[in-house]
Amino acid sequence: MADPDFAPTSSYEANPAEVRRVLLLYSGGLDTSVMLKWIQEHYEAEVLALTVNLGQPGEDFEVIRGKALDLGAVDCRVVDAREEFANEYVARAIKANAVYGQGYPLFTALGRPLIAKLAVEHARATGCDTIAHGCTGKGNDQVRIDATVATLAPELKVIAPVRSWRMGREEEVAYARTHGIPVKGGAEAAPYSIDDNLWGRSSEGRWIEELDHAPEDDVFQLVTPPEQAPDQPELVEVELERGIPVALNGERLELAALLERAGQIGARHGVGIVDQIEDRVVGLKVRDIYELPAAAIVLLAHQELERLVGTIHQNQLKPGLDQKWAYLVYAGLWWEPLRADLDAYMDAANAQVTGTVGIKLYKGSARVVTRSSPSAIYDAQLATFAESGGLFSQAAAPGFIELWSLQSRMAWRVRHREEG
Ligand code: ARG
Repeated sequence: MADPDFAPTSSYEANPAEVRRVLLLYSGGLDTSVMLKWIQEHYEAEVLALTVNLGQPGEDFEVIRGKALDLGAVDCRVVDAREEFANEYVARAIKANAVYGQGYPLFTALGRPLIAKLAVEHARATGCDTIAHGCTGKGNDQVRIDATVATLAPELKVIAPVRSWRMGREEEVAYARTHGIPVKGGAEAAPYSIDDNLWGRSSEGRWIEELDHAPEDDVFQLVTPPEQAPDQPELVEVELERGIPVALNGERLELAALLERAGQIGARHGVGIVDQIEDRVVGLKVRDIYELPAAAIVLLAHQELERLVGTIHQNQLKPGLDQKWAYLVYAGLWWEPLRADLDAYMDAANAQVTGTVGIKLYKGSARVVTRSSPSAIYDAQLATFAESGGLFSQAAAPGFIELWSLQSRMAWRVRHREEG
């Protein structure tokens, strides 16, 4: 019997006695590899593995598949979801300038609802009764995955063994050793806890948990440390149509490929390193080191163009809606109707976001240097200091100021009556 003292506390958690056929979200790492064996052993259940390709760099999915089958999975599917991730998830995030905290563009938070949705589809197609995942009980990812499964598939149950099996890394390594599970990098040094996809990479754990410990260079596996970046700056031009990046340096690319390319250019120049303390949805504060070379370029380009084509009123409203969008997604509520309502606004607001932004990359910095758009609410003739006539009359300015400042002047007088 699995977890003799485990009792479900929610409607969607599996009752161990009823688990027969499990779809495991498998990454190939230690936790989910141990889990693959552990579920077979403790639940006497069949395990099917599902691995989702969201563009995590340097991953060999055939090796992961082989490992799952070696560990006794009755089947292992690898799904290439890069296009869907880019077009249905990251694209919406770009339109919403989605950033949580100081600089987290939500790559993990965007990936989890898609991974869980694919798990639901595959569990249904293969007759599984339960979905298993490797999230801990302290993070945001359990919220995103459990909430997705419970929303989309009330008939399916969830197990998250890491929440209950009470094994630390040492016990897991010991379990792996006795069950013939290969352990990458040996037992001694616990590795960083990594999550990545085509929109970014995060590292947690080890010295990162010491807030006064400055980043060690070995954490940066994607972005070149700025000190080592080229001495020559590079200009990158991002072209957008209706809020979506469509070309890089004049070359039209599918979004997934464009993001990958932007990531490579940004990484070379040390762009997109963020060291942030984050308020998790479960209440903890945790430090993350992020590497976000694609997002650093693309979000900057989008935001710049959006401001250029938006009126002052649109530009004042949107950041508040953007922030709401980002928090819903961060906090695991991708399927909440408000998110779709906000997307309708994002689409409307992005209808004019078409044009090109040039960004200069140099030793860790990304700076907008050029912009052009047929929809720019900008007229060089009007903006210049020279007399322009036409739409703008400088002679009308004093009249405007008189009425614009009327209430403020009256209030000042009332408040200073006694003094006078
Ligand atoms: N702090 C980020 C988030 O909550 C990144 C989490 C990374 N996930 C992970 N399993 N290491 O979305």
